[in-house]
Amino acid sequence: MSHTDEPALDPDLFAPYGRLVELEVLGRAVRVPERNSLLRGFQYLSVETISYGDFCWNGDCTNCQFWYREGGQPQDKTALACRFEARDGLVITRLAPQVRIKGVTE
Ligand code: FES
Repeated sequence: MSHTDEPALDPDLFAPYGRLVELEVLGRAVRVPERNSLLRGFQYLSVETISYGDFCWNGDCTNCQFWYREGGQPQDKTALACRFEARDGLVITRLAPQVRIKGVTE
C-alpha cells in the first residue's frame, strides 16, 4: 500500500483551466494552471508548503510578494502572487521568504 504525507491536491481549489502556462521560478521552468493566481500555481507545484503557509490569500499580508521580469523589461517589478494571474513567459527572480516551493526553494 502506498503512503504519502502530501495532502491530496483538491481540484476544487482551482478556477477552471484548460491548460498550463509556462513560466520560470528562480531559474526553474514550471507549468501552472492558467486563469488562476500565481499563488494557486505555487500551491499546484507544492501543495503542502503553500496550503500550510502563512498566507491571507486576499492581498493583506504581503507574504506572497514576488519579483519578476517579462518581455525584456530591464528592471524587476514586484507584485502579490495571490492577486496576480499566472501567465506564460513570466520570469520570477525573487520570492518572499514565506513562499516555499518544493523542488524550487527547497
Ligand atoms: S497571501 Fe497575503 S497578500 Fe497574498
